[in-house]
Amino acid sequence: MKIGMLTSGGDCQSLNASMRGVAKTLYNNLKDVEIIGFHEGYKGLMYGDYHTMKSKDFSGILTEGGTIIGTSRQPFKLMRTPDENGMDKVEAMKKTYKKLGLECLVVLGGNGTHKTANLLSKEGLNVVSLPKTIDNDIWGTDITFGFQSAVNIATNAIDCIHTTAASHGRVFIVEVMGHKVGWLTLHAGVAGGADIILLPEIPYDIDVVVKGIQKRTEEGKKFSILAVAEGAISKKDAALSKKKLKEKRAKSPYPSISYELGAQIEEKTGQEIRVTIPGHTQRGGSPCPYDRVLSTRFGSAAAQLILKKEYGNMVGMQNGEIVKVPLEEVAGKLKMVDPESSFIEEIKALGISFGV
Ligand code: F6P
Repeated sequence: MKIGMLTSGGDCQSLNASMRGVAKTLYNNLKDVEIIGFHEGYKGLMYGDYHTMKSKDFSGILTEGGTIIGTSRQPFKLMRTPDENGMDKVEAMKKTYKKLGLECLVVLGGNGTHKTANLLSKEGLNVVSLPKTIDNDIWGTDITFGFQSAVNIATNAIDCIHTTAASHGRVFIVEVMGHKVGWLTLHAGVAGGADIILLPEIPYDIDVVVKGIQKRTEEGKKFSILAVAEGAISKKDAALSKKKLKEKRAKSPYPSISYELGAQIEEKTGQEIRVTIPGHTQRGGSPCPYDRVLSTRFGSAAAQLILKKEYGNMVGMQNGEIVKVPLEEVAGKLKMVDPESSFIEEIKALGISFGV
């Protein structure tokens, strides 16, 4: 049996652990299996850039971050646009799949990756996928691999900031990854004891943010820590049309929302502000034990879908159980933080502000 495998989109800590889980299960259950690793995601499938992997390639990679077969972003919206040489990308991927005589394609990726996985499945390829992203925003699974490792890193960043913020009596903004959803900021913010948490799903009022900081100052607390998602947005900006918002951002002198917010807070409170951005460190390094276990389970479950020929599915976790979710249910949906959820209510009850 010939199986293709690719990792697509932004990398994260537990990709190798997940591939190892798939491979070990296949090698353990099939006498004759050959795994083809496509280089740099869908690009490798399009351009026939791959190598045949050996069982030893999957040894010793459980703890290794990144991806041993490389990754790239291939936007779904451009999948139907021919490349610079006029090549039809979808047809090219189907051609490589058929030429190699693959039984199935195993895809490890996030939201964009799943849209393409669903497209390929609809085009007749056998596809099985695994939910990867530090953003934890894939629909159909309670958790994605990579998320918990990133929470640990972002939390550590906030922990480190705590001591210096307290010593200097400063206001610190820690910008956490996540343009569209705030799971990572929410978890790291709560775990790191942030005083104010700003998420894309809950547009903030700058006056409420400032009041939150002033209240802490009045209570004799000299420092404040804000955990701010990359995609945090003010109520004012959220009310703008997409076009107007794009124009505003293009003219902005600030490299990111945190700097804009920092300047506004400094002006309104007179307090010293510092911005810290852990950035891509949140996607780097070794997967945490939770992710290693999750990836191993996801990998085994994905291989079992192949053994049972249950194609067109993603493996996911729902209420502590590994499940299969049809790709067409996953594709095109985002799992966002619900501002009305009990999670948000519990945190609000502590006095932690979401800027509203
Ligand atoms: O989707 C994962 C993610 O790390 C997001 O949290 C972040 O906004 C984005 O990727 C960064 O993308 P890139 O690595 O292409 O800069």
